[in-house]
Amino acid sequence: MPALVIVGAQWGDEGKGKASDQLGTEVDYVVKFNGGNNAGHTVVVDGEKFALHLLPAGILTPGCTPVIGNGVVVDLEVLFSEIADLESRGIDTSKLRISSNAHIIPSYNRRMDAVNERLLGKRKIGTTGRGIGPTYADKMNRIGLRIQDLFDPSILRQKVEGVLAQKNLLLNEEEKFSVAEITEELLAYAPRVRPLVMNTTVELNQALDAGKTVVFEAGQAVMLDIDHGTYPFVTSSSCTAAGACTGSGVGPRRIDKVIGVAKAYLTRVGEGPFPTELLGEEGDWLREQGGEYGVTTGRPRRCGWYDSVVARYATMVNSLTDIVLTKLDVLSGLEKIPVCVAYEIDGKRVAEMPDSQSDMHHAKPIYEYFPGWQEDISQCCTFAELPATAQSYVQALEELSACHISSIGVGPGREQTIVRTPLLDK
Ligand code: GDP
Ligand code: IMO
Ligand code: MG
Repeated sequence: MPALVIVGAQWGDEGKGKASDQLGTEVDYVVKFNGGNNAGHTVVVDGEKFALHLLPAGILTPGCTPVIGNGVVVDLEVLFSEIADLESRGIDTSKLRISSNAHIIPSYNRRMDAVNERLLGKRKIGTTGRGIGPTYADKMNRIGLRIQDLFDPSILRQKVEGVLAQKNLLLNEEEKFSVAEITEELLAYAPRVRPLVMNTTVELNQALDAGKTVVFEAGQAVMLDIDHGTYPFVTSSSCTAAGACTGSGVGPRRIDKVIGVAKAYLTRVGEGPFPTELLGEEGDWLREQGGEYGVTTGRPRRCGWYDSVVARYATMVNSLTDIVLTKLDVLSGLEKIPVCVAYEIDGKRVAEMPDSQSDMHHAKPIYEYFPGWQEDISQCCTFAELPATAQSYVQALEELSACHISSIGVGPGREQTIVRTPLLDK
């Protein structure tokens, strides 16, 4: 089973980091293929918590080669501080490799992110403020800076001159950037970046030829995808399974499995439509039970019930072969659990994701109710050990999501996972 893609099946923070880490020592490569340090992936190993932003979760697996693919945007300061933090905690990061085609997030794009949000005012996206949008915009506009530019100071300077001529037009006098300052700042990283750089496209394709196991770990999720999410309230990259191909240089025929990670309920950070959002006490209860505060920005996450319209859409857009359901333990203690089965839009029942964004803003959830359970399930190791009502809830989600649920998370720890069907053939 050589190539698996892990994607978010909702609005992010589903537990992709844990799912990726879970695959364990049989994995040879873990590739981050989109986004940057807007992601926050949590992995808990023997009670110790790691919050990864730019680095893929595979970095915690001994022997695994972590790769930052061409589709990623890299903040160099964050890269080296994350490496230093992991090294200080005894994690060997020496195998990390970075594509020379990955784009750099220069400091001016963090400022541009803030400026864009300020100018949008009430219509702001609620970004993570990490410079993600402006850096992808520069990439598409062909004025981006790539990792390989660090090794040619004269080209780098010319590119910085060109891009700052545009950026500075939008900034107040005291906010403007100088070419020398930016060029020097970036060149200072060059000696440390050079040993990490590799033609990752060739490396990954050769690894697959040799029968190695490669996991592609997405940041964000289908509903935040630039093409398939709730535009404009999305991130700026391709977070779906197709993004694994463009963001790494591996063709679609090489992908064997696509695993969607979904919470047993739903959360969202930032602005934008969220039909099953709970604004009152129920939402507060879910937030506290589930510890729903952002890993990257610390913002409280918006909480709501499982939305099977979103899940079916995730299954379709990503060709999901499996769902990894997470945080089932959080729902213990409820009498009944609502699940959104369809939307009501302008008086009509709609079971598919609406094409029109304005319909999505008006969508009201239609719920079916499933009996809850009172037991603490965090120590359950098999499906049969779960209370009967929890089993029925999982089976209902499976049917409504149009995809097999392969494993069920009952706690944040590596071992707190009920495996129904192994994702990797042994
Ligand atoms: P990611 O961005 O998709 O990797 O997810 P985050 O790390 O942002 O958020 C998921 C949170 O849920 C983290 O705090 C995880 O440690 C935690 N988590 C993952 N799976 C489970 C689970 O099955 N049960 C519980 N209680 N927590 C989980
Ligand atoms: P992981 O990988 C949840 C959201 C932001 C904002 C929008 C755009 O941990 O699941 P950006 O800074 O990317 O331009 O922000 O996307 N967002 C996330 N929400 N999880 C994430 O990553 C996110 N990355 C970005 O809150 O609404
Ligand atoms: Mg996260």
